[in-house]
Amino acid sequence: MSIEQKTPVSKIAPATGKLGVMVVGLGAVATTLIAGVEAVRRGLAKPIGSLTQMGTIRLGKRTDNNTPLIREFVPLADLKDVVFTGWDIFEDNVYESAAHAKVLDKDLIEQLKPYLETIKPLPAVFDQYYVKRLSGTNVKKGKSKRDLADQVRADIRAFKKTVDRVVVLWAASTEIFLKQTAVHKSIEAFEKGLNNDDIAIAPSQIYAYAALSEGVPFANGAPNLTVDFPAMVELSKRNAAPICGRDFKTGQTFMKTVLAPALKARMLGVSGWFSTNILGNRDGEVLDDPQSFKTKEESKLGSLDYIFQPELYPDLYKDIYHKIRINYYPPRGDDKEAWDNIDIFGWLGYPMQIKVNFLCRDSILAAPIALDLVLFMDLAKRTPELRSIGVQEWLSFYLKSPQTADGLNPEHDLFIQSMKLKNTLRHIMGQELITHLGLEYYD
Ligand SMILES: NC(=O)c1ccc[n+]([C@@H]2O[C@H](COP(=O)([O-])OP(=O)(O)OC[C@H]3O[C@@H](n4cnc5c(N)ncnc54)[C@H](O)[C@@H]3O)[C@@H](O)[C@H]2O)c1
Repeated sequence: MSIEQKTPVSKIAPATGKLGVMVVGLGAVATTLIAGVEAVRRGLAKPIGSLTQMGTIRLGKRTDNNTPLIREFVPLADLKDVVFTGWDIFEDNVYESAAHAKVLDKDLIEQLKPYLETIKPLPAVFDQYYVKRLSGTNVKKGKSKRDLADQVRADIRAFKKTVDRVVVLWAASTEIFLKQTAVHKSIEAFEKGLNNDDIAIAPSQIYAYAALSEGVPFANGAPNLTVDFPAMVELSKRNAAPICGRDFKTGQTFMKTVLAPALKARMLGVSGWFSTNILGNRDGEVLDDPQSFKTKEESKLGSLDYIFQPELYPDLYKDIYHKIRINYYPPRGDDKEAWDNIDIFGWLGYPMQIKVNFLCRDSILAAPIALDLVLFMDLAKRTPELRSIGVQEWLSFYLKSPQTADGLNPEHDLFIQSMKLKNTLRHIMGQELITHLGLEYYD
């Protein structure tokens, strides 16, 4: 059966015209994303790892044999219509920054040079108090945080004139660990905080505030406190500007959220999980600062507790010793190496061990996630049912520490997240949800 026959007329606005993507931080992830999209557009490479570009979705019964590509099922922006710009504290254009990041081969970057060097960073909102290991010169000056937010709003408005729709993505460095304070409780308190230069308002929050004030979706690819507090949720709903975060789920946590649900599904116990990493890129350097590391650590630690539910299974998971280390080790560059040692126990309490050694390329894993987030956030903005709900929890699939509605435990299991994402797509397109019950095949 074809999609046309089963899908009622969708209320989703079509993805016509240009989609402008404004990336905060034109570093390793952002340049790998931008160069990658251009390489795919030119037919030089395939968008491997991107669900929006390569994934399919089953519709109807298994016997219907109806499994279109996701990008043909839902109205997503076409890659040829995506236009990039961004902000950074360094003046390097995307060609120079990609060359510095050393993620992609020199040959590929050279081929793409004429395009990449046209993308030059706008001056950033930056304060070294929030990222200790960085300093740059391409930085906005303002009388107050409010003034800086207004300057970012002006950047967004100017870019909006050249495209049809805009999405903002945070792919900048991890800021220091911040907790919610009174300033985060409401839009009013936050705006007062902007006027008073409240120290609890980090640059990432200024960009997010600016984007949401302009009705533009904002996705947070880093672990900092950026859109996950009441003021931003309120602003997101008020201006129909979807939000999601936080922290791209790329390497070690991706593996964790596959393995942990498997152990739990079989009721195998876990006594310890030791995760260590070495990486040598700029992200690694920033995370070498204890305060930025703390932000990352919190984001990485959460998943196991939520997956194992020790309160429901004290015999299996009550006393897990969970430890995470990230070590800056320059020789490896962007090629991270992660080790996990998992101490588990089985029948009658007999101990066993699992070792995982993931030699991954950080930004190669992150770029397709960034692309999918941008395209799906744009879809959310065009979907009446999604645009005003605030947090887009259906995108948890991509995030290490998924944001949810207040009081709701986040879902970390990768396969439940995948089902949730696909069922959301089926739902907004008026298709039946898939439960995997399957009894109808045995009638
Ligand atoms: N690469 C991955 O697999 C991965 C996974 C999860 C999360 N992340 C997060 O994504 C972010 C980007 O990672 P990366 O490897 O590209 O790092 P990177 O250091 O290569 O790039 C970050 C860029 O952000 C810029 N920047 C910092 N503060 C800024 C500000 N206030 N405004 C504008 N620009 C600013 C820096 O100058 C730098 O160019 C980091 O926070 C990282 O923790 C990365």
